[in-house]
Amino acid sequence: MNEKQRLENTQVNPSDKKSAKDYSKYFETVYMPPSLKDAKKRGKEEVKYHSDFKIDEQFRGMGDGRKFYIRTYGCQMNEHDTEVMSGIFMALGFEPTDSVEDANVILLNTCAIRENAENKVFGEIGHLKALKRERPDLLIGVCGCMSQEESVVNKILSKHQHVDMIFGTHNIHRLPYILQEAYLSKAMVVEVWSKEGDVIENLPKVRKGNIKAWVNIMYGCDKFCTYCIVPYTRGKERSRRPEEIIQEVRHLAAQGYQEITLLGQNVNAYGKDFEDIQYGLGDLMDEIRKIDVARIRFTTSHPRDFDDHLIEVLAKGGNLVDHIHLPVQSGSTEILKIMARKYTREQYLELVRKVKEAIPTVSLTTDIIVGYPNETEEQFEETLSLYREVGFDSAYTFIYSPREGTPAAKMQDNVPMEVKKERLQRLNAVVNELSAQKLKEYEGKVVEVLVEGESKNNPDVLAGYTRKSKLVNFKAPKSAIGKLVKVKIIEAKTWSLNGEMIEEVAEVK
Ligand code: 5AD
Ligand code: SF4
Repeated sequence: MNEKQRLENTQVNPSDKKSAKDYSKYFETVYMPPSLKDAKKRGKEEVKYHSDFKIDEQFRGMGDGRKFYIRTYGCQMNEHDTEVMSGIFMALGFEPTDSVEDANVILLNTCAIRENAENKVFGEIGHLKALKRERPDLLIGVCGCMSQEESVVNKILSKHQHVDMIFGTHNIHRLPYILQEAYLSKAMVVEVWSKEGDVIENLPKVRKGNIKAWVNIMYGCDKFCTYCIVPYTRGKERSRRPEEIIQEVRHLAAQGYQEITLLGQNVNAYGKDFEDIQYGLGDLMDEIRKIDVARIRFTTSHPRDFDDHLIEVLAKGGNLVDHIHLPVQSGSTEILKIMARKYTREQYLELVRKVKEAIPTVSLTTDIIVGYPNETEEQFEETLSLYREVGFDSAYTFIYSPREGTPAAKMQDNVPMEVKKERLQRLNAVVNELSAQKLKEYEGKVVEVLVEGESKNNPDVLAGYTRKSKLVNFKAPKSAIGKLVKVKIIEAKTWSLNGEMIEEVAEVK
């Protein structure tokens, strides 16, 4: 669809008769609501790459004398999208602000992964109503994963009319058009494409900080784990071309960034969509490790596509860190099957064995969901035993949250919430026990820390992370910020390490 057809199509979504009737008053402006049904489709269409993004002349100066504020919820992908939207705002002449009171445009970049994430956003939308009443010329926008859900858009349309614009994860590059439309019209602007197969390069970015940077390597997910909304909100798997990624990482290294995290919903599927080349995550990491940057990470991995070539490359070490986040979700083969994870407990353990054999110092972290529909006590105990067997360093743990439109949300569930909460507590006790044990082993040892700044709780102390992502607090001169330093660990706390700086490892470039 070209731009003209797209704009013609934005008036009404013919497949959405109910919304069309209910919200006919909005049709005087852009009204293109999402459809989970469309978002589910996966076609064979080729991925189109656009590298001609530019701010149209008509928008220049739109932001002069105006300020923007973006509140970001959820994962690193969202954090990075916020950096892109900040880049677009700045290119339009807007200035950033840290205060909602000062802002002329407020965006909520939302997360849909669990119900409590969505509740927080609705709470915030409610709070902003008073501000909008005081300053009617303030623009309020909702973007990110929640805006890809029909139910969310309908709720905002019917209950939160002080919102001026809703736009989707595939519409970020359209921000100048959406802002203009919102300035010109009194009605709510809704522009959410449900099915986008494109990769847009050359988008401006304003990165948070100058020490660590995120780089997208792919977008979307085709795994469709039965509990997960991401394949619907982020669309089909599309990989960026290796040369674009390598160029971006080189550029960041030249600017002095010390740590790069390669991002994707399922980075192990990187390259599977290329039709002209056979090129995977292992190949990409093998090239990126040659770039002069101190640390390279990637997230998030799916065990299913974690191949031997990648393990072989990671074992080369150097700037490739020996920390892998490898979500397992459950230790029960039966639950994994219902989740459609496409691996068994034994296959996961075998992968862990291979990784540990190739990288003996590796630290593994994971994500776990407890209280899946009909999860039995025995199945839950298999998760506990797998956790100990792998010996994870730590984990993000969650109670299963039904997401409308996903297959799991339709399942009957006989596990009471009380039981789910109790299982989460029991799992967290094991997570904390192992994490404390791992941290205790650091006492007396020397670690390499990338110094990020002052500690949150004590400005006299600096804080940074080790290669294995352990938080370290230590006394050192402020001139150490942004550098790699050696720190001797004095004491292990529950979640962090305290130490003393010994020496600097490297000069800032
Ligand atoms: N309920 C609970 N946790 C979820 N996650 C994804 N979807 C859900 C859901 N519906 C968790 C998974 C994933 C992490 C990012 O969030 O563990 O790895
Ligand atoms: Fe969701 Fe990750 Fe599964 Fe994709 S691989 S569906 S993002 S949990």
